[in-house]
Amino acid sequence: SDARSHCLPNAGRGAKVRPFVTTESAAMPSPTLANDPTTAIRDIATRIEAALIEVRRDLHAHPELAFQEVRTSGVVARELTRLGIEHKTGVAKTGVVGMIHGGRPGPVLIIRADMDALPIHEQTGLPYASTIDGKMHACGHDIHTTTLLGVAEVLRDLAPQLAGTVKLVFQPAEEAIGGMKVMIEEGVLQGPKVDLALGFHNHPGAAAGTFEFTRGPGLAAADTFTITVNGVSGHAAQPHNSVDPIVAAAHLITQLQTVVSREVNPLHPAVVTIGAIHGGEAHNIIPDSVTFKGTVRTLHDAARDAAEAAIRRLCAGTLVGLRVNCDVEYNRGVPPLVNDDRVIDPTIAAVRRQFGDVVHEKPPSMGAEDFALMSQMVPSFQLGIGSGAPGGTAGLHNSKYNPDEACIALGVQALS
Ligand code: NI
Repeated sequence: SDARSHCLPNAGRGAKVRPFVTTESAAMPSPTLANDPTTAIRDIATRIEAALIEVRRDLHAHPELAFQEVRTSGVVARELTRLGIEHKTGVAKTGVVGMIHGGRPGPVLIIRADMDALPIHEQTGLPYASTIDGKMHACGHDIHTTTLLGVAEVLRDLAPQLAGTVKLVFQPAEEAIGGMKVMIEEGVLQGPKVDLALGFHNHPGAAAGTFEFTRGPGLAAADTFTITVNGVSGHAAQPHNSVDPIVAAAHLITQLQTVVSREVNPLHPAVVTIGAIHGGEAHNIIPDSVTFKGTVRTLHDAARDAAEAAIRRLCAGTLVGLRVNCDVEYNRGVPPLVNDDRVIDPTIAAVRRQFGDVVHEKPPSMGAEDFALMSQMVPSFQLGIGSGAPGGTAGLHNSKYNPDEACIALGVQALS
């Protein structure tokens, strides 16, 4: 069924929902709260900015890899408890889900942050740099976790004015392993049933204080393959007595570049990259096999299907043409992340009310991320939050990545 065709917002629900864990009673809203929500959001974000930066630096100094976010989720649970926000820990092993009930009925919205770090050795030299060799928050997920904690505090204070329910999803294991899949399997879209989802990512290519969005598919489906080309080994001087998998692999790799140029609709972007190749040991031996692996990135299902079919067919064809037998292991990874206008439009309108004309539409990227899984199930939008420092910074997944921390409070304002 097409989950995206159901209607929203669903007035009348969301006021009364089954709490899954109740912590302390909700703390009182700030007594100085402005009546105008735009001003109130800005005031609270400004007031909590220094404390958020402290939390972020603590998370940054203690990065944890996928499904190992024990300390990180402990910090999240501690902060949600301090705020009096009901929450559930141990979702998808190390994930945390908080829940804020608005004072008025309305839709159920997820706001999602990811929490995991990367196996990179930090080289920023910052005073709060990673204290753990070989692990670093080089994708800014420490920024995301902190930003969502700030959003939690703002929405807690504004809850009486809020129409609907907000689920705060702190997700483990975005990098490579797929924490979102496990969270969905464990029912994060149910209890109460979720109508809309909002994700976000820091964008070092955009200055802090600016925001980015893409309509439709914004990030790619990311599939992987491993191909083993099996020949018959022999003496390098007697190729006619062997079946050379190296020459066959060379032909096949070149042929695979025709998948994009000749097999996929040219109006559908696609990438086929071979990232590793292994085979042989010596100058004078024809080996018995060569293995190579790569990734296929697409934005549309038709291109995804066409690419997989073509790769399998080209591999099968080598048996006739080059006498080698190919084993193909093809794994479908995350789907495309599809941004829905029904979440984009109200979100960017709200961001413009906060900040003016600093929201820019940008073309899709062939990168991938697992918020895509949620975007296939409920109308979703991933907001890009500019995190570039004046003078620029190294990019994501770089050992010198150093985002402008101003993006935290700005992100809190925007998402709230
Ligand atoms: Ni990331």
